Amino acid sequence: MSTEQKTVAVLGAGTMGSGIATVMARAGHRTILFDIAEANLQRGIDTVNGFFDKSMSLGKLDAAAGDSAKGLLEGATDLQALAGCDVVVEAVFEDLALKKDLFGQLDEIVSDSTLFHTNTSTLSVTGIASGSRRPERVVGTHYCNPAPLMKLVELADGRHTADWAHKATIEFLDSLGKTSVVTKDRPGFIVNRFLIPWENSCIRALEAGWGTKETIDAAVLGAVGHPMGPFRLLDIVGLDIHQQVATRLYEQLRDPKFFPPPMVERMVAAGDLGRKTGRGFYDYDDTRLFGS
Ligand SMILES: NC(=O)c1ccc[n+]([C@@H]2O[C@H](COP(=O)([O-])OP(=O)(O)OC[C@H]3O[C@@H](n4cnc5c(N)ncnc54)[C@H](O)[C@@H]3O)[C@@H](O)[C@H]2O)c1
Repeated sequence: MSTEQKTVAVLGAGTMGSGIATVMARAGHRTILFDIAEANLQRGIDTVNGFFDKSMSLGKLDAAAGDSAKGLLEGATDLQALAGCDVVVEAVFEDLALKKDLFGQLDEIVSDSTLFHTNTSTLSVTGIASGSRRPERVVGTHYCNPAPLMKLVELADGRHTADWAHKATIEFLDSLGKTSVVTKDRPGFIVNRFLIPWENSCIRALEAGWGTKETIDAAVLGAVGHPMGPFRLLDIVGLDIHQQVATRLYEQLRDPKFFPPPMVERMVAAGDLGRKTGRGFYDYDDTRLFGS
């Protein structure tokens, strides 16, 4: 890990924002978690603190390190609080206009050397960067969910990303203990190009009655050695997010394997979004956004 402490702002305190904020605080960076919705911000902060508490109680993190990480986390609902940030990691809703607008506003608040990272899953990094008057500082960094537990980050430059920003991003990700894979600014990067069709096939298999959620999860665990089955994973990702990502990829690629199966629409309509609402494919007592 790097010994140089940075101030990192994470925009959006949802599933990914709270996970990424956990990674930043654990690596010793002053971390400002920003959200426009007070309730979402509080939930994100509780999730990060809960993660550190559980890690300490399980003996995965010693008390001094856990308390210090918790002490590095701050919350904000006012963008002005982000002045002085070295790195901004954007993880708000998957909405191009919203992401562009936030980067445009931040141009006026942070210094010209601040790196802008976007965690978009399906939007163009170049498109998001066009919201900033300094698109050369914008880099796509797509974290895997749950961010505190998964090492992989896909890195994609926009058309105008500068060499210095690309190199600084790789160094920064290295310092977090992440493994970065360089890819291109294309819909779904590498991972979602195979993950989304695969998840859709598992959902279609469930709908067709080839197995139960438990047997399909068990078959995948046994056959390909993934850390969890598709339905456990989808419950962590969020059915709403899966629907959004799959639909956007279908719209851009026009390949039916990306189209979300009808079961996803019914679950989203019912509010069964996964772990965050207490019910998805499985039921949950613990609705924190991720666990240790
Ligand atoms: N869920 C996943 O598995 C996953 C994985 C990788 C990347 N992503 C991407 O990460 C991003 C966030 O996804 P998520 O699953 O965390 O979504 P989420 O719905 O859990 O959280 C989004 C958060 O953004 C906040 N927000 C909305 N507008 C805002 C604004 N103007 N300023 C500040 N905060 C604002 C919301 O209040 C919410 O708390 C999306 O771009 C998504 O495509 C998601």
